[in-house]
Amino acid sequence: MAEEIFLAHGPQVAVRRIALRDYEEITDLTRESAELHHPWVPTREMPPEAFREYVARFDQPTHEGFVVCSRETGAIVGGININNIVRGTIQSGALGYVAYASTAGRGYMTQGLRLVVEFAFTELGLHRLEANIQPANESSIRLVRRLGFQREGYSPHFQFLDGAWRGHERWALTVEMTGTQAPDASVRSA
Ligand SMILES: CC(C)(COP(=O)(O)OP(=O)(O)OC[C@H]1O[C@@H](n2cnc3c(N)ncnc32)[C@H](O)[C@@H]1OP(=O)(O)O)[C@@H](O)C(=O)NCCC(=O)NCCS
Repeated sequence: MAEEIFLAHGPQVAVRRIALRDYEEITDLTRESAELHHPWVPTREMPPEAFREYVARFDQPTHEGFVVCSRETGAIVGGININNIVRGTIQSGALGYVAYASTAGRGYMTQGLRLVVEFAFTELGLHRLEANIQPANESSIRLVRRLGFQREGYSPHFQFLDGAWRGHERWALTVEMTGTQAPDASVRSA
């Protein structure tokens, strides 16, 4: 596994930015994971052009896209996005994440999300990350709880998923909650 392309390493996984060359691997993984992902995230398959647009989204300063890879094999075991990044005096982003069926339930996403949180709070200079989770999505709630996120509240009719507007719990983590001193927001541009 070529270590140099990775942004951060945990014991069993490493995190790098998503790339166009990941198309086939992610398409296969998404296909095999339809049951795991339904009804929590959109499960539609992306044709190559849609994937190209999806990856291009992460060229914008408002979105960051990562894949979590096994350190042993280099294979992708998860995906994590930071969406809707707001700068200025907010410095916050919204997380999206998926595991894949063949490697779920081994702790890889806990490791991967921990690495992305650390990267977000250091390299990206963010101050808060939120995760919006349907109340019945217990494995997702356990995941963010393990990383210290706290439930802030409930947003009714938050996201259109599986044919209806679904209410989500809003879980969040700030730099202060990690026991680290928060940076001054004025050091980052709007
Ligand atoms: C939410 C989701 C990403 C969590 O993935 P995950 O595979 O459960 O997360 P991890 O890789 O961290 O694995 C944690 C589980 O592995 C278990 N585990 C087994 N062996 C382990 C080991 N050696 N080390 C650590 N954990 C281990 C943990 O006990 C934990 O199980 P639990 O959730 O029953 O407590 C996954 O369920 C998923 O993709 N869901 C569909 C998409 C989705 O809901 N996305 C989020 C929308 S808000």
